[in-house]
Amino acid sequence: MVTIDDILAKIRPNIAKLTPYRCARDDFDSGILLDANENSFGSAIDSDLELHRYPDPHHAKLCKAYAAYRGVNPDQLFFGVGSDEAIDNIIRIFCEPGQHSLLITPPTYGMYKVSANINNVQISEAPLTKSFQLDIPALKDAIEDNTRIIFLCSPNNPTGNTLNREDVLEVLKNFDGIVVVDEAYIDFCPDKTFAKDVEDYPNLVVLQTLSKAFGMAGIRLGAAIAHRSIIRFMRSIKAPYNLNSYTLNAGLEALAANEKVAKSVKALNDERVWLSEQLDVIPEVETIFPSDANFLLIRIQKAKQIYYRSAELGVVIRYRGDQMHCEETLRITIGTRAENEELLKVLKQIIQELKTP
Ligand SMILES: Cc1ncc(COP(=O)(O)O)c(C=O)c1O
Repeated sequence: MVTIDDILAKIRPNIAKLTPYRCARDDFDSGILLDANENSFGSAIDSDLELHRYPDPHHAKLCKAYAAYRGVNPDQLFFGVGSDEAIDNIIRIFCEPGQHSLLITPPTYGMYKVSANINNVQISEAPLTKSFQLDIPALKDAIEDNTRIIFLCSPNNPTGNTLNREDVLEVLKNFDGIVVVDEAYIDFCPDKTFAKDVEDYPNLVVLQTLSKAFGMAGIRLGAAIAHRSIIRFMRSIKAPYNLNSYTLNAGLEALAANEKVAKSVKALNDERVWLSEQLDVIPEVETIFPSDANFLLIRIQKAKQIYYRSAELGVVIRYRGDQMHCEETLRITIGTRAENEELLKVLKQIIQELKTP
């Protein structure tokens, strides 16, 4: 199995020798603060958040609260502007543009490819099986000498299912580069997390977000959990003040609201079961794929037409029929009961319309 030294040896040389930006407040953060060219007369708007001051670049309070929430150590945590920032950050640390490649397992979240393209990093693909699990032999075959990162997504977007734990461990044990496990939807199935496995696997980076179960997509707050030596580099290449004062504050408030979050997760999971049952009795719905997340992928003929017509009728869902193994599919986010009822009404209406010549 790979060691942390093997992993650190794969860091791009310019990053390995980078001197990160430092500010005076890394050394001193109290007293009369005349070090950062802030406005000593205060901010344009009233707020308790000291908006005339730069936010804490080290996210110390958030680190402590999130570490306690997830049962990991504060030095195993990186925070970014959504987990999308962490995806880009990890690529920039390990992949030399024009030289290295990363591996994805389609159908999967689209940003891995976009970030790879932005960074001029090649992409190889090892498609999931038709039941949306890892195809281990295909994945092993797709690993090349220059493959630095494998992106796995569990629960997977757009399919909703979690990956088999044994398969993910197999990848972690056999690949000598970084394995990212994107857990954006993990709070809907918390037993399936790999967060604590960072203790045993120095090549594991787990991504999480407050955008889904916490209902905080608007503040843009995502986390990476990994070996502290990897986290040190993730922190050193981020923009110093990547998280603003509103986000830091709202993140702390959200973590403290764990009872409300637990209720919302339960309600969404219950609603997913209900919606699934309702869809199941519509004969035209051919497949409802098993989901551990706050969305359902369904197969229905004329999916693209349904997608456009549904939006005309006021319900926006996502066409996913152009993704690998996802022919004629739609991805439906679980809404409130009223929203789901409206979705069902619209869907039934469109099915009728499509039947009438
Ligand atoms: C699998 C997956 N990862 C990451 C993200 C990005 O989340 P964030 O809002 O934290 O950037 C999403 C958003 O939809 C997602 O589906």
